[in-house]
Amino acid sequence: MPRAGTDACVFVMFGATGDLMRRKLLPALFQLSRDRLLPAGCQILGVARDPAQTDTGFRAQMRAALADAGLAADAAHWCDDCLHYQAVDPSRHGDYVALGKRIECIESARGLQGNRVLYLALPPAAFPGSIEALGRAGLNHSRGWTRLVIEKPFGHDFVSARHLNALVHACFSEEQVFRIDHYLGKETVQNLLAFRFGNALFESVWNRDHIRSVQITVAEELGVENRAAYYEKAGALRDIVQNHLTQLLTLIAMEVPVAFEAGSIRFEKIKVLRSIAPILSGQAVFGQYAAAAGNGSTMRGYRDEPGVAADSTVDTFVALRLEIENWRWQGVPFYLQTGKRMSRRVTQIRIEFRSPPIALFRAVDGCSPQPNVLTITLQPDEGVELSFGVKVPGERMLLKTQRMTFRYAAEFGAPSTGYETLLRDVVQGDQTLFVHAEEAELAWGLYAPLLERRDTPHPYPAGSWGPPAADALLRPADQAWVPNLPAPA
Ligand code: BG6
Repeated sequence: MPRAGTDACVFVMFGATGDLMRRKLLPALFQLSRDRLLPAGCQILGVARDPAQTDTGFRAQMRAALADAGLAADAAHWCDDCLHYQAVDPSRHGDYVALGKRIECIESARGLQGNRVLYLALPPAAFPGSIEALGRAGLNHSRGWTRLVIEKPFGHDFVSARHLNALVHACFSEEQVFRIDHYLGKETVQNLLAFRFGNALFESVWNRDHIRSVQITVAEELGVENRAAYYEKAGALRDIVQNHLTQLLTLIAMEVPVAFEAGSIRFEKIKVLRSIAPILSGQAVFGQYAAAAGNGSTMRGYRDEPGVAADSTVDTFVALRLEIENWRWQGVPFYLQTGKRMSRRVTQIRIEFRSPPIALFRAVDGCSPQPNVLTITLQPDEGVELSFGVKVPGERMLLKTQRMTFRYAAEFGAPSTGYETLLRDVVQGDQTLFVHAEEAELAWGLYAPLLERRDTPHPYPAGSWGPPAADALLRPADQAWVPNLPAPA
């Protein structure tokens, strides 16, 4: 057996038989290990409730999960060598003590130094109990380092997020805590920082003097799928806006950090959150998808989905207009929208620049000069596009919009899912792409009033761009919501 590296660790995966583990975390761990991007010798201890499960059974289950992810070829040996299973009943202190012993056993058998990642891939309701139990069993520290990874959503409102932070901090220091927002692991999201702070050209126009509006869209084609139990308690505001959309907003709006490291970047993101003006009810529109015909069949409405109440008022769509009250952004509207069962899957940021102060060129034949638009598509068909007007050859001064385009796939191939990056960062102790305690609380604080007095959602046909009521949020001068989609091939 090769000697384990000094940073090699045991990944203790709580919720190891769940969907997230099978679809995202296990494939990411396997690929990192296969590509030698983790320290040699890392082990994975899956933790779940089932007392009848064994190491052998768990390995077979995980091999099947890797096969489903198209990673079967060289996975069998890896599963046998790296995967272990331990049953834990969350209500039994003794099970956590036994867990500690099992981790020590693996560490001593494999010559590991006591470094541990405790990964809570659990339903949100299970976080508080698990964190307390880990602390009570003394699993919050070890001979090496111990890091706690908490999946989103971190709390379900401001009070619960604050309570959860207090629980976490009673057992773990903030340096040990890695709150995941998987959007931050996406290459295209990290590229926002490179794009903004690695190119003087854009930074110099990134302000209220040059930008007229910002639209951020996270549209999904999928419906609620088999997650009604969670989604009925969450809705789109909690599921996407409070975390993914707000993280994108802070990366677009933040000031230049003094250094490219966790403390400086989180500090600037927190400043943005503090500058957002309270959101009034007139600045938000909620929607819920309704049954609609499409592609020769009928798409179910949200209320007809399995596990959803027939009179559910849960939001599957949210559109918002936010104002950031600081010197850089005063007066620039930030439009945020997200929805399930929209007409296409697209995550996109659209920056519309101001028109020239004097219109030298007039509309000709209904063709009027358009403002410059910078479109950053985070997924799919990842890329960046800048539109500008050019003169159409001929006698008349007729302007036509053209685009400069960069597409990731053409240059670099398909980007990773994000979990690879985040898992590696946890092992390296780099918190740059993780959410700080204060960020989580401020984001909840921002949306708390809306959660309390949420209007009944407007129905929108499944497969559409959301309810027309969302248009009322746009200022008369602003363009429509629909993102800048590339023309169909
Ligand atoms: C998750 C949400 O955080 O993000 C899901 O809980 C959503 O509802 C998913 O579908 C979207 O992630 P991605 O990476 O596919 O855009």
